[in-house]
Amino acid sequence: MRIGVLGTGMVGQTIATKLVELGHEVTMGARSAGSEKAVGWAAGAGDAASAGSFADATAHGELVFNCTAGTASIEALRAAGDEELRGKVLVDVANPLDFSRGMPPTLSVCNDDSLGELIQSTFPDTRVVKALNTVNAAVMVNPIEGTNVFVCDDDDAAKDEVKALLHDFGWPADSVLDLGGIDGARGMEMYLPLWLRMMGALGTPSFNIAIVR
Ligand SMILES: NC(=O)c1ccc[n+]([C@@H]2O[C@H](COP(=O)([O-])OP(=O)(O)OC[C@H]3O[C@@H](n4cnc5c(N)ncnc54)[C@H](OP(=O)(O)O)[C@@H]3O)[C@@H](O)[C@H]2O)c1
Repeated sequence: MRIGVLGTGMVGQTIATKLVELGHEVTMGARSAGSEKAVGWAAGAGDAASAGSFADATAHGELVFNCTAGTASIEALRAAGDEELRGKVLVDVANPLDFSRGMPPTLSVCNDDSLGELIQSTFPDTRVVKALNTVNAAVMVNPIEGTNVFVCDDDDAAKDEVKALLHDFGWPADSVLDLGGIDGARGMEMYLPLWLRMMGALGTPSFNIAIVR
């Protein structure tokens, strides 16, 4: 499949690399087409990897990952282009973490709204699926056995596409908990303050939670 990965940080690089390993053709997008990070990634990731602007990566992708800084995601997606995003599944792994007042970050949107919903309402013809934002980048593509991740969206077919990708990343079907519509993104994002606190307590970002009935 042709996939666009918007974002050149740890998450964009990790997901893009995994997707190439799985046999997908991936374009990594950044604010500028000549981004050193995106071009550098593409140079080392093989023939199926390329780099471009957010719009280039979105045009390339049949499916697109949003791996941009959460407080900049709407701006980045506007640059990607409403037309280019139309009808496509957009996997939103971003967290609306606002570091402008130092540490710990606050959430720029929360309670009765979320970044996932904000993206969906800004781009109503895009099929936004929230996923993977509750684990560290390395864990996204290297699941910790027996732990869980979440997906949410109002579009079941879009969710099924993302669940299939998560399965390819190594997440067994029963490890992916479907939280229903895109408003499930509220809880997935508001988990971040607890995740950050646990990272401090554990001294590592390499952990995850397991749901026990
Ligand atoms: N780090 C993790 O393990 C982890 C885990 C779960 C979720 N997340 C979430 O995943 C997302 C990516 O995280 P990250 O740590 O890989 O990278 P990041 O530093 O949060 O984001 C990097 C990307 O955001 C873009 N960006 C930053 N400011 C922008 C602006 N004003 N306008 C447009 N684009 C802008 C950058 O564009 P350029 O390439 O042009 O600089 C870059 O591609 C974040 O939302 C984060 O909260 C991270």
